Amino acid sequence: MGATTEERVDHPLFARLYARTAPAEDRRGLAARRAALLRGLAGDVIEIGAGDGRNFAHYPAAVTRVVAVEPEPRLRRLARARAADVPVPVEVVDAVASRLPVDDASLDAAVACLVLCSVGDQEAALNEAYRVLRPGGQLRYLEHVRAPSRGLARVQRAMDATFWPRVAGGCHTGRDTLAAVERTGFAVPAPVTFRFPRLRTPLSFHVLGTAHRPPAVP
Ligand SMILES: C[S@@+](CC[C@H](N)C(=O)[O-])C[C@H]1O[C@@H](n2cnc3c(N)ncnc32)[C@H](O)[C@@H]1O
Repeated sequence: MGATTEERVDHPLFARLYARTAPAEDRRGLAARRAALLRGLAGDVIEIGAGDGRNFAHYPAAVTRVVAVEPEPRLRRLARARAADVPVPVEVVDAVASRLPVDDASLDAAVACLVLCSVGDQEAALNEAYRVLRPGGQLRYLEHVRAPSRGLARVQRAMDATFWPRVAGGCHTGRDTLAAVERTGFAVPAPVTFRFPRLRTPLSFHVLGTAHRPPAVP
């Protein structure tokens, strides 16, 4: 399924920059967080906004299938090359978070890694993740979010309202993503919180955790 015109994600400059800088970020500690994000997963999974596919190597062997959604053409090509090189079966598809190409309640887990900052409609993306998960299914997330201090949150607001989304592929530095996950109907146990990089910057404040679509009531 291709992206509709309104949802087209085509950020050639950002895609190039991301593909160039991400390996260094991984070496500085992000790869270990990616591994933690996916640890213990099993069954059928969707990854939303897979980028160049740098999570694929971290999926455990118990994962039977990954549908990796990536709307940006250059990143999708890189992701397809990576998918061919990992033991877990990964299908990379052209689609967007607000319209996932899978049936209702058909998956065991959805993975959102550094993507809920960038989607055009975060509420629609989360509703879709909820829709495709079976009751009891997991949403695994690793996201940078709103800073806890008022000063930095103000800087984030200023960046998000001006240049940042334009230079960073639609990214917003200061979204209150966990509150949005909770509003969608997920159960959200306390996440791991950490700063990456350690310095207090508008992009450092991260959350990593698992939210659940509540089990069906018998
Ligand atoms: C910062 S990159 C992160 C990529 C990858 N998840 C990672 O962890 O390295 C943000 C990704 O979100 C994707 N993206 C942006 N808008 C999207 C949307 N509406 N639906 C799905 N993916 C989207 C971008 O194309 C890009 O691959």
